[in-house]
Amino acid sequence: MELIGVTPRGLKFLYKTRRDPKIDKYLTGNPPLSYEDHMVFMASNSHRFRILVDKYSYVGYGQITEREDGHCEVGFVVATEYQNMGYGKRLIDLIVTEAEIKYKTLGLYVKKNNEWAIRICKRIGFKECRLINNDEWYMEKEVGI
Ligand SMILES: CC(C)(COP(=O)(O)OP(=O)(O)OC[C@H]1O[C@@H](n2cnc3c(N)ncnc32)[C@H](O)[C@@H]1OP(=O)(O)O)[C@@H](O)C(=O)NCCC(=O)NCCS
Repeated sequence: MELIGVTPRGLKFLYKTRRDPKIDKYLTGNPPLSYEDHMVFMASNSHRFRILVDKYSYVGYGQITEREDGHCEVGFVVATEYQNMGYGKRLIDLIVTEAEIKYKTLGLYVKKNNEWAIRICKRIGFKECRLINNDEWYMEKEVGI
């Protein structure tokens, strides 16, 4: 199992996964409206994405985004058909390990009702910091803690 950068197959995988209503309901941003919009977005943002590959299957993706304040925001998604098989824990571990090399503070946004995502994040050191609109948590992890 490994994280790879975005490939042509990865572009399609990202679009399909991000547009899946079962995924979208747990994410805080909006999905791309069309494949064309997705490609325009990815042309300038693909460096933020990593894809989790197990043998030849694309199973999930993560994001590492540098914010204007110099802190880092991470995100992670496992495709619906691969959920609850241990990939999520491995994915966030790999994403956080990579992000920790460069950043001192990692942040992420997670819906309040996304209990299993919150549990995974807490286990690796994220803490609930701010509740936004009574709907999503901003969680933060200090590196080395
Ligand atoms: C959150 C997410 C990444 C977890 O990935 P996953 O591969 O399903 O998780 P894992 O198999 O590694 O399991 C992690 C824990 O969540 C639990 N879990 C996973 N899917 C679950 C489900 N549908 N219902 C209840 N618990 C679930 C597992 O039992 C496990 O708990 P345990 O360690 O106490 O046994 C995945 O469900 C996902 O992509 N969700 C949609 C997007 C999202 O919420 N991203 C996070 C936003 S920051």
